[in-house]
Amino acid sequence: MSQDQVGRLLAAAEAHFQTAAAARQNGQVDVARRGFLAAAEQMMLAAQASTGRLRQTRLQLAQDMLAAAEALPRPVGTPGQTARPSIPLGEEDKSAGWLVQERPNIRFADVAGLEDVKEQIRIKLLYPFTHPDLAEKYGVQPGGGILLYGPPGTGKTLMARAVAGEIEAAFFAIKPSEIMSQWVGKAEENLAELFKLAASQPLSVIFIDEMESLAPRRRSSNSTVMQRVVPQLLAELDGFHKRSNPLLLIGATNEPWAIDSAILRPGRLDRLIYIPPPDWAARRVILELNLKAAPLAEDVSLDTIADQTQNFSGADMASVARRVRERVFSAAIQSADPQPITMADFDAVLAETKPSIPVKDLRKFEQYAQAS
Ligand SMILES: Nc1ncnc2c1ncn2[C@@H]1O[C@H](COP(=O)(O)OP(=O)(O)OP(=O)(O)O)[C@@H](O)[C@H]1O
Ligand SMILES: [Mg+2]
Repeated sequence: MSQDQVGRLLAAAEAHFQTAAAARQNGQVDVARRGFLAAAEQMMLAAQASTGRLRQTRLQLAQDMLAAAEALPRPVGTPGQTARPSIPLGEEDKSAGWLVQERPNIRFADVAGLEDVKEQIRIKLLYPFTHPDLAEKYGVQPGGGILLYGPPGTGKTLMARAVAGEIEAAFFAIKPSEIMSQWVGKAEENLAELFKLAASQPLSVIFIDEMESLAPRRRSSNSTVMQRVVPQLLAELDGFHKRSNPLLLIGATNEPWAIDSAILRPGRLDRLIYIPPPDWAARRVILELNLKAAPLAEDVSLDTIADQTQNFSGADMASVARRVRERVFSAAIQSADPQPITMADFDAVLAETKPSIPVKDLRKFEQYAQAS
């Protein structure tokens, strides 16, 4: 392929990416998804026509574009139904950008390991819905809140979505860092809208990521938004049990020690749950989940790979599987005789992969988990 042709691929990728990013901003999820996928495809072709560092960079870019497409919310609605285009929040569409509603179709089975965590969540958040008679008999209230904490990439967001998937609830995800700017002056209003909208659904899960930034222990003096948002969030949480439509609130954080302890009182996010990196068995399952359809050579031993990936996060494991698939895919494109994935492919990818969580951070989480 000529330099010119590669240049055209790159330009096309860039154009698709821009369109997709703008569409995402405007809440046009389908346009955004198609755009990111088209961008990824062009970038992948450009990568295949490149060598060395450039090839790596372009493959990485293609992966990022795929990830952007995957990260887009899936349409709300039971399977088969057409999705609602957006969430009406008052007269103008404030949903674009900060408030995303979806109906996740993943289950606990899609989350590897963490069996004790799943059981804790079942008891606190799920059984009251699946066994309403018993719950009433013993005075157990459905709904409530938990805080998932742990290092990045261990499956906190995945777990929250799986909870919603298990009970077929509407899932509202908000990320304070993305929305703070839009909240200035409107924070209370928006927060109230969020809880109101969630309460209007038969069953809802509200997921607040980066909880430490919404309810920080030490509030920076000039952050008046924080000074107003925290008390209101607390009031909304206190209102939980008075609602006719039960609401689950799941918070997540990488910095549990930085959270305002008022948010952790009974009736609020009163269960703190540590989500550690996957153990040996869970690492193996994550590999399996991420290699499902891929052809594996006889010499591939997932046991050995699980042995060699101590301290890898779940995201690290998923990324190893993805990179191995891409490696063999790109070799297959250039050869007349496509090969299955071999152990040598894993070795090559593992040789250039390190666990993303520093050991000292891991110790910090373990100490915190023991103390709380
Ligand atoms: N226990 C797990 N089982 C299956 N897949 C996992 C697990 N943990 C992580 N993964 C994989 O890693 C990806 C990232 O996980 P997720 O976004 O849930 O991490 P997180 O804990 O929310 O990270 P962060 O703290 O950075 O938000 C998931 O989409 C999934 O592919
Ligand atoms: Mg997350």
